[in-house]
Amino acid sequence: MPDKLLIFTDLHIESDGRSIIGLDPLARFEEGLTHALAHHEDAQALVLLGDLTHHGKRDQYARLQKALSSNRLPLYATLGNHDSAKNFVQTFPDQVDTDGFAQHAFDLGPLRVLILDTHDHQGAVQQHAGWLCERRLRWLDIQLALAGQRPLLVACHHPPFATGFDGMDAINLINGDALLMRLRDYPGPLHLLCGHIHRTISGHAGGVAFTTLKSPCHQMPMILGPGSSALSVDEPGAYGIALATNAGLVIHTEDFAIAGATQEDPLSG
Ligand SMILES: [Fe+2]
Repeated sequence: MPDKLLIFTDLHIESDGRSIIGLDPLARFEEGLTHALAHHEDAQALVLLGDLTHHGKRDQYARLQKALSSNRLPLYATLGNHDSAKNFVQTFPDQVDTDGFAQHAFDLGPLRVLILDTHDHQGAVQQHAGWLCERRLRWLDIQLALAGQRPLLVACHHPPFATGFDGMDAINLINGDALLMRLRDYPGPLHLLCGHIHRTISGHAGGVAFTTLKSPCHQMPMILGPGSSALSVDEPGAYGIALATNAGLVIHTEDFAIAGATQEDPLSG
């Protein structure tokens, strides 16, 4: 059996009684997490890829913590533009390093996994955009050197590339070239996984293959070009499943809100 990772991004947990375009983010996350844990009992870890809350409030992190009480998997969480590092660490002190960054490095079978914190801790760039400071880039350099040539999955909230959604591209990882340059120069197989856009996208940028995942709650409408980053649409929520195989890495997305009962067609091979 391949080694397996469950990934949720852009949970946007709200305060009690509040919704986003009529959707309850907490209920959507709980539905997705229940589905993921029930269908993937062999998963080895759970990753939360930022925008854990909608406003970074203490009560929102407390609601997330309660929702995670059913999870027994090792948890690796990082931050997005909607998060507050100060309030996150109050609720999840074991999720930050000694510098206060929510970054992680761990093994998933043959795969090395690096999770980068692209939250703008210092207010270095415009609101909602991402930033990797020198300390985090130095951590990345060390982790890339330690990984040697092992297969690598690098995950972070803000994509370091444009996606065609102009409003979102204006608030992506502002110093994304610093990340892409490092990843492109890595001597082993590598894949980049991001959140932020609320849409499943794949491709390559700056010589680096990437995937972005949907939110379990609200999604980015398929309106390419000019448009606000605040646009949202009620489409089925999803989570990601990463499989580390002997041949490499496979990333699935599961639209849990429309997953039906499994049936067998006797005429199909
Ligand atoms: Fe988000």
